Amino acid sequence: MEKETSVVIIKNVAGVRALLAGLLALGVLSANTISAQSVDDLIAERIKPVGEVCLAGDTCTGNNNSSNTTAQTTADTGGATSGFDAEATYMQSCFACHSTGAAGAPKVGDAEAWATRLEKGMEVLIASSVDGLNGVMPPKGLCFTCSDEDLAAIVQYMLDNSQ
Ligand code: HEC
Repeated sequence: MEKETSVVIIKNVAGVRALLAGLLALGVLSANTISAQSVDDLIAERIKPVGEVCLAGDTCTGNNNSSNTTAQTTADTGGATSGFDAEATYMQSCFACHSTGAAGAPKVGDAEAWATRLEKGMEVLIASSVDGLNGVMPPKGLCFTCSDEDLAAIVQYMLDNSQ
């Protein structure tokens, strides 16, 4: 009995495979017969609800017309960037080296060390943060989600706390 059941399962698996292969062949064939124009249309239609640009203040029509949403929601999410927390990110990414002075890192709180650095200009300090410096200060200070502006905000935070 048990043996028979497993035979049936094996047969079914083979059947499903044959069916899938058939469908695949059909799919390939029909895709070839569709003109490039209609493929473009199909693609445009498919990506439309996701790819639609919606500006703040606009009324955005999504996939479902009954649930029009205004761009306010989008604007709110976008606003998260301006709420970047320089201190928290410093603690996460930079603190390990810049609180201890590891590998010669200028210590936050060491006014003299930072005054000397600042003589190069703020732009240079930000560039060092973005690109790294001398192989000891790692690019982006290991904060790979940080934008250049975020890094600039952290450098400002470090300077503010080293006066
Ligand atoms: C692995 C250790 C390490 C981490 C992590 C690190 N730094 Fe540094 N940083 C250094 C060292 C070492 C130097 C000194 C490099 C030198 O002068 O040769 C330095 C130098 C700097 C300087 C001075 C650059 C200059 O041009 O003089 C700035 C600004 C700076 N780091 C910002 C950051 C920021 C912002 C972060 C976090 C996002 C960070 N660092 C994370 C090790 C680190």
